[in-house]
Amino acid sequence: MNATPHTAIVTGGSEGLGLALTVALAERGWNVVVDARHSQLLIEAVAPLGPSVVAVPGDINDPTHRLALVASATGVSDDGRIDLIINNASTLGPLPMPALLQLPPTDLVGVLTTNVVSPLALIQVAASHLTVDGCIINITSDAGVAAYEGWGGYGTSKSALDQLSRILAVEQPTWRVYAVDPGDMRTAMHQDAFPGQDISDRPLPQHSVAGILALINGSQPSGRYSVAQVR
Ligand SMILES: NC(=O)c1ccc[n+]([C@@H]2O[C@H](COP(=O)([O-])OP(=O)(O)OC[C@H]3O[C@@H](n4cnc5c(N)ncnc54)[C@H](OP(=O)(O)O)[C@@H]3O)[C@@H](O)[C@H]2O)c1
Repeated sequence: MNATPHTAIVTGGSEGLGLALTVALAERGWNVVVDARHSQLLIEAVAPLGPSVVAVPGDINDPTHRLALVASATGVSDDGRIDLIINNASTLGPLPMPALLQLPPTDLVGVLTTNVVSPLALIQVAASHLTVDGCIINITSDAGVAAYEGWGGYGTSKSALDQLSRILAVEQPTWRVYAVDPGDMRTAMHQDAFPGQDISDRPLPQHSVAGILALINGSQPSGRYSVAQVR
């Protein structure tokens, strides 16, 4: 860390883990560019964080929006460089989550697009602006490793994101590329996965932040981590 404020892009920053990470980075002096599709919710969520957090509403699947995120980040950065990308925005796909035999192929394409293709596409447009020792955090899930009934689309996408992260890490050895499983969190996405169930025993997303910050600020080699390992 030097005295220059660092600059991050965090996707899906209007609530849940993305907002918790945005708050934590802003409190530590980072410039943060955040997105989400629901413009008003995003703007209201980050307004209290001050001018170092810039809301760029949009859909991560939109190529023009991805360019706008990168342009905003290079614009707010003192040196025009981006230090960190957190690919956090994600979708479960159709709800309630169907078994694979009932998962419409077009919906599977949609899940893979949001959870795998667009995170890589964002990295691609940001790559030439990333610091040589830049950090990529791709938020993954235990559903990418374990086989839970009904989690076929989402789980397959997170497995793919894990492997994408591993290969990106060997292709870009000066970067730190982490696939990070944040663990169960009490969020809108988690409630969507368990409709009608009481999820109040799950920890709030703030509980997952310390482990992710430890990776961002540390020197762990690229790889797949759960927050429980690094907290
Ligand atoms: N919650 C858990 O238990 C859990 C467990 C393991 C892994 N994870 C992972 O943790 C990450 C965060 O999940 P969360 O539970 O915090 O989710 P969340 O509370 O539902 O928040 C999701 C955020 O992503 C935004 N978003 C969704 N689709 C988007 C898109 N296409 N473009 C831009 N923004 C988009 C949402 O805003 P808009 O709807 O306005 O776009 C929102 O800001 C995800 O990668 C998830 O897979 C979660």
